[in-house]
Amino acid sequence: MSNGFSVKSRIRDYRVEFVDDFARDVWSKRGEGDFLIIDEKIKSLYGEKLEDLFDRENILTIEANEENKTLTKCEEIIEYLIGRNIRKKSAIFAIGGGVIQDISSFVSMVLFRGIEWYFYPTTLLAQSDSCIGSKSSINFGKYKNLLGSFYPPAHIGIDMGFLTTLPEDEIRSGMGEILHFYLIAGKEDLAKKMMNEYDDNVKDPGAMEEYILQSLMVKKSLIEEDEFDKGKRNIFNYGHTFGHAIESVTSYAINHGQAVTMGMDMANYISNRLGHIDDRTFDRMHAILKKNMPDFKLSYGNISDYFKALSKDKKNEGANVGCILTKGPGHMFKEQLPMDEEFKNNITSYFDRGFLKREDA
Ligand SMILES: NC(=O)c1ccc[n+]([C@@H]2O[C@H](COP(=O)([O-])OP(=O)(O)OC[C@H]3O[C@@H](n4cnc5c(N)ncnc54)[C@H](O)[C@@H]3O)[C@@H](O)[C@H]2O)c1
Repeated sequence: MSNGFSVKSRIRDYRVEFVDDFARDVWSKRGEGDFLIIDEKIKSLYGEKLEDLFDRENILTIEANEENKTLTKCEEIIEYLIGRNIRKKSAIFAIGGGVIQDISSFVSMVLFRGIEWYFYPTTLLAQSDSCIGSKSSINFGKYKNLLGSFYPPAHIGIDMGFLTTLPEDEIRSGMGEILHFYLIAGKEDLAKKMMNEYDDNVKDPGAMEEYILQSLMVKKSLIEEDEFDKGKRNIFNYGHTFGHAIESVTSYAINHGQAVTMGMDMANYISNRLGHIDDRTFDRMHAILKKNMPDFKLSYGNISDYFKALSKDKKNEGANVGCILTKGPGHMFKEQLPMDEEFKNNITSYFDRGFLKREDA
């Protein structure tokens, strides 16, 4: 197994290690009076390995859902920690996916203006993407990820064993984010290889270590340049504007990463229509993406809902839609496009390529 790497941060540099046994890693790092915040499902699947590592009262078990990524939940957690005498020198160990990450990093960041925290990501998305980059975001009312800041953990331990119990849908979702990093960085051959082995990867994600490492390498190179999301990092939004709108019109029935996969295909299509890539480049990229595209058809009658969802994206400026377009793999760029007839026609003609139900028109 490869050992890992360091990420440079303005807050503090941190290490990412691939570990054979997360419990052994936790054991070697935890101290007296430390706390564990753990995904309820992970505790039921892997809790035995953590027995005796923490006082029972120092273990907080949380259901990983968006409703728990709130100020109210964080306040409840902080109240509990204070009641259990947490100190500035105590550390929080977080084990779970992106939801547990966001809650734990937020709590660690605000408590005593910052206590140390350690993260053990358990989903493909958290292992290949969210675990680095310092972001900590929680929801506020109906607004997703509205509150937060930047607060990296002291250490990240990636145990591939967690992926053996991850549901298939979550694996496909993670694969979408990995693909997006590869295409941003122009790693087309790697993307092709991963997609050629798609079915094997879905069946055996525990063997995806190299793919995860390469995905993190792409993210690392950009976050080290633009940790606080002031410019360069915005190309990470490739596929996301169009993808978020798909998640929104399907009331989140489609997972994030597969919506992003379709979102990338849409961004490529718009890029082609605007003359930034030729047909062959679009087809080449489509061939890579297509296996991870969701099984989704939009009703013709709902296309205005799609435009409405697009118009609400937080990266928009004024009445324009903030898009990341492409001149080919490795060449993404930001453009604000007016939501005019041409734009709407392009989107409609994209969906018309087999993703539109016209019978109710
Ligand atoms: N902070 C960041 O930089 C950042 C980046 C991207 C996404 N996010 C956030 O991450 C969240 C999504 O996180 P996610 O996709 O990692 O999933 P998640 O934390 O929502 O977990 C998804 C589901 O998988 C289960 N699960 C997790 N690991 C498992 C395992 N090994 N075996 C079996 N079941 C397991 C969970 O209990 C849950 O039911 C969103 O809230 C998103 O906003 C944060």
